[in-house]
Amino acid sequence: MKPQGKKIAVLTSYDASFTTRIEQAGADVILVGDSLGGVIHGQATTLSVTMDDMLYHMRHVTYARQQTLLIGDMPYHSYENKQLALENAKRFMDTGADMVKLEGAGMGAGSISESIEHIINNGIPVCGHLGLLPQSVEELGGYKVQGREQAAAEQMITDAKHLESIGVDMVVLECIPSTLGNTISGTISIPTIGIGAGVDCDGQVLVLYDLLGITPGKLPKFVKDFLATASASNNENLIVNAIKDFVVAVKESRFPTVEQSY
Ligand code: KIV
Repeated sequence: MKPQGKKIAVLTSYDASFTTRIEQAGADVILVGDSLGGVIHGQATTLSVTMDDMLYHMRHVTYARQQTLLIGDMPYHSYENKQLALENAKRFMDTGADMVKLEGAGMGAGSISESIEHIINNGIPVCGHLGLLPQSVEELGGYKVQGREQAAAEQMITDAKHLESIGVDMVVLECIPSTLGNTISGTISIPTIGIGAGVDCDGQVLVLYDLLGITPGKLPKFVKDFLATASASNNENLIVNAIKDFVVAVKESRFPTVEQSY
């Protein structure tokens, strides 16, 4: 889709019913995200999410998924070395994933990058994740915009190029200035999927419960409650229409707006 200039609409899902609705609404990709730690389990971070939790939700999404590309999000501590990373990536694939997602790009022996390469070399497609890495929230000192300083921005561009060079197929960019989202998207040929990374990314992802406005607490500025403005038209229910509104807004580069970006 990237060479054709077609924007990619991605949503998280954790169960069968919403998966059916997301497919009905025409999203391109479904991510079973470890964000389920927050929106399903009510935890403040994703750090408590386990492989068993992820596979439980993967199975239920897989039962309903018909044709949409499905990504499984590898949780904290599940890819600490390359052997463990491959073993757990295979468990995702056995449950029906088409691709796995890992956070970070640290290089060198025993690094995340080594784990990613090992997974790819064993035939499993990988989605990277740069910018705000929720599994590293403690090291980052909270949920803050990343890559504002020049050195950090340059490092992120280097990391994005590195991920592409080792065979990563797609990369999520979370909570970065929109100018940096634009630069990275123009620098690498694999698609970038933004969440708080500006409208110039090749696609956008939202946590489904944020899009529906049902996540408790204060939401980041890059979130839009699409259910609040959805209408029950075309014999579709409100939730399907809200998801469709997101998909169309992404396709037409109307989401995120400048106000919803950094
Ligand atoms: O866990 C998740 O849902 C994610 C997306 C927000 C990108 O990683």
